[in-house]
Amino acid sequence: MPSKPTTIFACLNCGAQSPKWSGRCLECGAWGTLKEELREKGGAEKVSVPAPELIDFKEVSEEKLSRFLTGIDEVDRVLGGGLVPGSLILLSGEPGIGKSTIVAQIAESLGTKELPVLYVSGEESAGQIKGRLQRLGTDLGKIRFLNETSAEKIAAAAEKLLPRLVIVDSIQTVYSFLVEAEAGGLNQIRATAARFLELAKQKNVAVILIGHVTKDGQLAGPKALEHLVDTVIYLETETLHDYRILRATKNLFGSVNEVGIFEMTGAGFKEIKNPSAIFLDEVGESLSGSVISSVMEGSRPFLVEVQALVTKTVFGYPQRKASGFDLNRLQVLSAVLTKRAKVNLSNQDIILNVVGGLKINDPALDLAVSAAIISSLLNQTVDRQTLVLGEVGLGGEIRNVSRLEQRLKEAEKLGFIKAIVPGAEIKMGALKIEKVKNLNDLLEKIKS
Ligand code: TYD
Ligand code: MG
Repeated sequence: MPSKPTTIFACLNCGAQSPKWSGRCLECGAWGTLKEELREKGGAEKVSVPAPELIDFKEVSEEKLSRFLTGIDEVDRVLGGGLVPGSLILLSGEPGIGKSTIVAQIAESLGTKELPVLYVSGEESAGQIKGRLQRLGTDLGKIRFLNETSAEKIAAAAEKLLPRLVIVDSIQTVYSFLVEAEAGGLNQIRATAARFLELAKQKNVAVILIGHVTKDGQLAGPKALEHLVDTVIYLETETLHDYRILRATKNLFGSVNEVGIFEMTGAGFKEIKNPSAIFLDEVGESLSGSVISSVMEGSRPFLVEVQALVTKTVFGYPQRKASGFDLNRLQVLSAVLTKRAKVNLSNQDIILNVVGGLKINDPALDLAVSAAIISSLLNQTVDRQTLVLGEVGLGGEIRNVSRLEQRLKEAEKLGFIKAIVPGAEIKMGALKIEKVKNLNDLLEKIKS
């Protein structure tokens, strides 16, 4: 006897399913997108299936990943050391952020006359793409272009050409005739992505799918693809400067901690090889309240500048404001400073800023934040060639930080002469290491 159909609610935005209705989708946060669907329960009859052969790992030969470098170091690092043939990559970002530009640069770098790159666009005409490629100084012979939106036709063209890389710009414009829905809808996005997955795996060509997403989730379709693809990379902007950050949030073939940093110029993206320098404020002089520290982004240390402005509270409760740093953490640190180092902040407003607009949650920044506050309060400068690093505990004790040596090496390379760090045994060539055990030690150092 067939069992009764059950009711489920599916989100029109991200496809998440839930057994109960709610006003807001728990998965993507969109409001009013849950729609009721009826589902037949699976057949109740018992079917006997033969047991499949089990695989003995000893007999499986190891596959070595062969990768090809895109030649753009920042991209290669984010991909985990180059592009893997047969991989499916989703490149997401807001409209206008530079997705088409970066793939054009990858195409220029990867394509050869014998092994071209297939660039498919459903968004722009051949003329527009040609204009962009010329602006970027691309050798047009390395790229084949297709102005097409049918997934089946794109796949057929790719299977015939067998290019090194297929770029689909964008997944929202592509449709499959097997699915009766509008291009850009969730079902279409899923079906077409599945087609490109098949292409990638069967023909061993790398495929990059471009997907538009917005921060507020208005264009969240490609989010639903993240489980299907091998690699998800985001192109984002960082607010203060106009830099673009490329970041992997999923990568079957490498680490997800790497970031690539670019600057958009009149001739496309330029790599920023020395990111530390850009996150420091341009002013060269030492100012009170300004302290330099180092945070890890992936496997790379970045130098950052922390600025604090401490002023007497004029009215009411003391204010705490933070940009680029967790406000709760700032409150904790000012309480610890007040209690453990007897630095009275209970009648002082504190404004904290991490220069460069990066959002930082590396605990190693605690000590620099504390130092910046003390420096501003006492109006005592901390030398700009001094690096301050350490996590602060509730007892006012300074704890060790991860990858201390690597951070110090980076600072040494950039000409720093002194570092204030927790009590770890570390030897550095030109860098003078000063150890602090607690906030009182720090206070003494800034006073002197
Ligand atoms: P685009 O790659 O078209 O963004 P997306 O594909 O993510 O929508 O480019 C975005 C912006 O970059 C666009 O406003 C023009 C600008 N741009 C440059 O500043 N320099 C360049 O060399 C190129 C190609 C684009
Ligand atoms: Mg585009």
